[in-house]
Amino acid sequence: PLPTEFHEPVTLAVIGGTGLYKLDTLTAVAKLTVSTPWGFPSSPITISKTESGFPIAFLARHGLHHDLLPSDVPSRANIAALKKLGVKCIIAFSAVGSLQKHIKPRDFVLPNQIIDRTKGIRPSTFFEKGFVAHAGFGEPFDLKLNKIVAEVGVEKNLLQGDNLIFHTKETLKDDVILVCMEGPAFSTRAESRLYKSWGGSVINMSAIPESKLAREAEIAYQMICMSTDYDAWNDQEEPVTVETVIGNLSANSANAHILAERLIDRLETEIKAGNVGNDLAGSMKYSVSTSP
Ligand code: ADE
Repeated sequence: PLPTEFHEPVTLAVIGGTGLYKLDTLTAVAKLTVSTPWGFPSSPITISKTESGFPIAFLARHGLHHDLLPSDVPSRANIAALKKLGVKCIIAFSAVGSLQKHIKPRDFVLPNQIIDRTKGIRPSTFFEKGFVAHAGFGEPFDLKLNKIVAEVGVEKNLLQGDNLIFHTKETLKDDVILVCMEGPAFSTRAESRLYKSWGGSVINMSAIPESKLAREAEIAYQMICMSTDYDAWNDQEEPVTVETVIGNLSANSANAHILAERLIDRLETEIKAGNVGNDLAGSMKYSVSTSP
């Protein structure tokens, strides 16, 4: 069994979504059960090290056996636990449906915007009980992290599989908009077409509140989306089912591992050089609107 304690700061974390439950390519050195004022995270946090000894935290968003509904993911505990370890940058993977013909199942997508269609039932702030703060969220993802992930993602031959594409704001020449819905049922055709008409690129159930809480915790955050289906807008296809999603997941998971490995390499360098993960430090103290 792995040690249950780890005493060095861990600055980089990977959150795994459906289909990514661990990081196979790294050596695990500890498995932590982290308690927070918001309870326990979705899963124990595995600490792994790169060859040069740089530690990375990994958390499975839906639990190690995928037993948490999207609405029940303890996002506050997840983000608070990573903060407690010293995390400054989070790369979060998520399976998504595609709202656009040119985004094919198994393509990867790097969103830079979010439309929140969750229904207000998920606790989505650390600030409550008479203490009010408004985090800036115009750019919901960290711009520096987005740029680094985009550079690594579009490297030649990164994705394994014929014609797979890593879509970014640069390759699409437009905002890449992630719609986050409540679930657990998928969208109706009418909803799916509505989101498409809004310019939505992809849809999932996981970006909110995770991204908002990371902002409040002053952690640089970027989600990487793995397309599994065409949702329900396309008349030519059956609306999405879990079967379709699962069918494309194993291919996605292999690609997620390749991408995670390359990204960790690059981010180790960038974080050590102080190039990413520091911009938000101290930002929330200017966001509190309750008088002292
Ligand atoms: N996750 C994967 N596919 C999805 C879809 N079509 N809608 C919402 N979440 C998803």
